[in-house]
Amino acid sequence: MAKERKNIQRGCWSSNQGFILAAAGSAVGLGTIWKFPGKAYTGGGGIFCLLYLLVTLLLGLVLMLGEFAVGRAAQKNCVAAFRHLRKGWAWVGFLGVFSSLIVMLYYAEVGGWVLAYVIAYLREPELVFADPSAYFAELTGQGEGFPWEGALLFPLIFMLLTAFVLSGGVRGGIEKFNALAMPLLLLFLFVLAFATLSLPGAEEGLRFLFSVDFSKLNASTLLSALGQCFFSLSLGMSVMVTYGSYLSSGENLLRSVWAITGLDTLVAFLSAAIVVPAVFATPQISMGEGGSFTFTALATVFSGMPGGVYAGLLFYILLFFAALTSSVSLMEAIVSFLSEEWGLPRRLAIRSSTALIFLLGMAYTLSYGGSAAALPLRFFWFDSGGVYPVSLAEFIELLADRLAIPLAALASCLFVGWVWGTDSACREIRQQGKFSFSWAGLWSFLIKYLAPPAIACILLGGLFFGLSLS
Ligand code: PFF
Repeated sequence: MAKERKNIQRGCWSSNQGFILAAAGSAVGLGTIWKFPGKAYTGGGGIFCLLYLLVTLLLGLVLMLGEFAVGRAAQKNCVAAFRHLRKGWAWVGFLGVFSSLIVMLYYAEVGGWVLAYVIAYLREPELVFADPSAYFAELTGQGEGFPWEGALLFPLIFMLLTAFVLSGGVRGGIEKFNALAMPLLLLFLFVLAFATLSLPGAEEGLRFLFSVDFSKLNASTLLSALGQCFFSLSLGMSVMVTYGSYLSSGENLLRSVWAITGLDTLVAFLSAAIVVPAVFATPQISMGEGGSFTFTALATVFSGMPGGVYAGLLFYILLFFAALTSSVSLMEAIVSFLSEEWGLPRRLAIRSSTALIFLLGMAYTLSYGGSAAALPLRFFWFDSGGVYPVSLAEFIELLADRLAIPLAALASCLFVGWVWGTDSACREIRQQGKFSFSWAGLWSFLIKYLAPPAIACILLGGLFFGLSLS
């Protein structure tokens, strides 16, 4: 639908600080808190952290600035923004909306599981501690019967909460919620870091995490850091374009980008400084990434530490806030597209996208780890070794991580560097000299010549060599 609807009231941020917290809320999510520590560990500790800092400075920050500039220059939802700046480029926005939708399918489910763990640590921590794997298996339906709570109840509550925040609008909903959630999240992180770092044996984990061993440097660690950086900074999925579109010309994009990137990186490093030392201090478990590690191995850490129930509770509340602020941003990209492009009233756009994601997302949990109630559908994926069967849950993750997100990121980076052009972007950033941008030349070089091949490597590495993006 190529028509641009003129008379739609768009939201806007009430302050630059509100915008920074909302964008940081989008960035800080499951990827930052539960994936980064595992990746840092498998990537060799210090060397991964160093590479991560480097790619964040050279590429993450650079693309984020470009995406904000696109959004603010256009003042439109992501599809209309790309079309408005260059005819024929709306597809970049569509790719972003599609990626957001796919990511939401697992975000809604995992967000629901996190909420289930908050309740479990409140109600029955002894059951989680008694057999962490069995507890997680039951929640996600890997045992007998239909997983009512893991597939239905908690993802539904999670999606309803997301819809509730969205229904308050940009200023009254998203901005207000993030202004509350983000400081709380940071406070919880510091408290937890203090608790786990005082465990006996934790210093060894910290040493591993921050001592750099250059012999562990290799291409796959570099690509893993790159992929993690893009996912963690919410890049390439038009979410930052959407958030940027609610900004006024009086805001300094450069300062905001430094603040958002800084906050996200701080949370990633703090999370690693909580999880890795805690694992080093708990000899019964070994380090891992993602779902089962976060829900099972960490329970062993918490059960063995003094005040572990409270530490666990704090950890899952913090993860819950992180997931919710990110899911709000992913949904905002979808909702603003539906309401501004398709002309749906905002409330209907929120309700219909929430219902769709909830229903499709349920299929994710049902096929996760071979649930007894799994759907009888067959899915396949491929890499250089050929085609192989995967579950629906794996298919959704692979589609997002290996194809949709890197493709969308590549397209948006080429758009800024080569199609809209760095001169237009710099003009947007500078606002007729209101803001100085002394490293505009370097920025233009990076977004034109360094970012596209780097993202192409993530895409090819993921598709052919099975490297994981997020
Ligand atoms: N940055 C989020 C995380 O680290 O979990 C995930 C995310 C949110 C990715 C929004 C992309 C996005 F547009």
